[in-house]
This record gives sequence, C-alpha cells and structure tokens, in this order.
Amino acid sequence: GLRPVLPPDIAALKGQRPIVVLTAYTTPMARLVDASCDVALVGDSLGMVLHGLPSTHGVTLEMMILHGKSVMRGLGRAMAVIDMPFGSYEESPEQAFRNAARIVAETGAPAVKIEGGVHMAPTIAFLVARGIPVMAHIGLTPQAVNTLGGYKVVGRDAEAEKVMADALAVEAAGAFSVVLEKVPVGLAGRVTEALKIPTIGIGAGVDCDGQVLVTDDMLGLFTDFRPKFVKRYAELGQGASEAIAAYAEDVRARRFPGPEHGFADAVKK
Ligand code: KIV
Ligand code: NA
Repeated sequence: GLRPVLPPDIAALKGQRPIVVLTAYTTPMARLVDASCDVALVGDSLGMVLHGLPSTHGVTLEMMILHGKSVMRGLGRAMAVIDMPFGSYEESPEQAFRNAARIVAETGAPAVKIEGGVHMAPTIAFLVARGIPVMAHIGLTPQAVNTLGGYKVVGRDAEAEKVMADALAVEAAGAFSVVLEKVPVGLAGRVTEALKIPTIGIGAGVDCDGQVLVTDDMLGLFTDFRPKFVKRYAELGQGASEAIAAYAEDVRARRFPGPEHGFADAVKK
C-alpha cells in the first residue's frame, strides 16, 4: 500500500509549497479534512468546541486519546498530530515521554504537539531522541492564558526577541515544525526565514510556511468567540439552527413524518 505521510515529509514541504492544516476531533470531520489537507490536528481546542469547557485546562489525556482514535479511523492520506493536554507534559521530560508514548501507542498517530519554547526545548529533545516527533507551539499558547493575561497578541516590540528565541530553541531541540499563534505578521515572516523547519501560522500572517485554523470556527459551527484571524468559509451553524427550527415546527404541526417516511402494515403482494 501507500507509505503513510510522516513528519519528515511535512518538514520537507518547506520552500516547496504551503502546508495545509485543519483541526479534526471525530471520524466524520477527519474524512472531510483528509480530502484536502496535509495534517489533521487533534487540538485541545476540543475542550471548548466539543465539551463546552471554558478553556483548555480541563482537557485530559483520556479525552485526547479517545478523539485521537476517532480521527485516525477517518484519515487516509493526511497525517495526524495530537495535542498533549495541560498537565500531561510540563513536569518533566520523563512525564512527557510516558504520556506521549500512550498517545502514540493507543491512537497510532505519528506525532504530538506541545506548547512552549525555550523552557520546553529539553522535553522536545527528550521525546524526539526516543522516537516521538514533536510539533512545537509558540507565541500565544492557550494553556498559559492565565500567565499571559488573556488571549492577546504575543511578540510585539521587545517581546519579539523572546518569540524568536523560542523558535530557534524548538528547532534546535528537534521539532519537525512549529505553530506560531497570534504573532505579529512581520515577526512571523522573520521567524519563518530564520528557521529550517516549517512554521504553521494561526493569526500569524501569510508569510508562514503553512496555515492552521479550527475547522469548527472556519465552518461557522462554533461561534462562541470570533477571533479576527478566523475567516468564515461557511455558516453551517446558521444552516443547522434553521434546519432544527424547521424540524421542530414540522413535528409540532404534524407535518413530519410524511407517508414516505413510514412503513406499510402489510407486505405488498
Ligand atoms: O488546539 C488547537 O486547535 C490548536 C490549534 C489552533 C493550533 O492548538
Ligand atoms: Na491546542
């Protein structure tokens, strides 16, 4: 059969063509993403989008593994990357390896993503040396929302140096790519130029090597927040609420089900 897409294949796309990434949390969404994208990211954004949590802090390893397995069943050619949730990797490289190994072993996904730059570099190196490819994630790292003081742009003015240092550190540690979230466009371009590994931007301008969005955001399915960096490619939430309202009216007016939806009492001879 076909050789699966692996992290080195994704890394090799830098300078060749833009890398297309979307989130997926379930088999049906994975099938849709698989048809057009290079990577399906099982993001811990599923805490908010699927489970109604107020932040990513309540997401567990078990949730990520369950959704990771579901996504793997829907992928044919796209590569899966699974977020390590808050509390599952920060304590030590050993803790990170133990939990990343569970993700890889139980889901079959080839790679994990962890948030953090300079301070997570030893952990990234520890995982990569032991056979687990890592996508890094710097700039706005939502698991650190409370220390960052909100979901704000990261890397303006003097802070730009820190983002560049984070990027260089995760590359040196062996990450195969790095997500840049909510980083100013000029800085994202300079980071992209400085690195040999691809940058995947979200709210980080057009000069990144690839782009990622939360699929439910770009489809208009999840509308609790509307970040400036989300382009709405569809309004599926609007369509769904109109359809559900029409169904409710039909049931109340006994317009649904119709004769065509029922079963005859006698078999036709
Ligand atoms: O959790 C997520 O969906 C993410 C992407 C937005 C990069 O980390
Ligand atoms: Na995430």
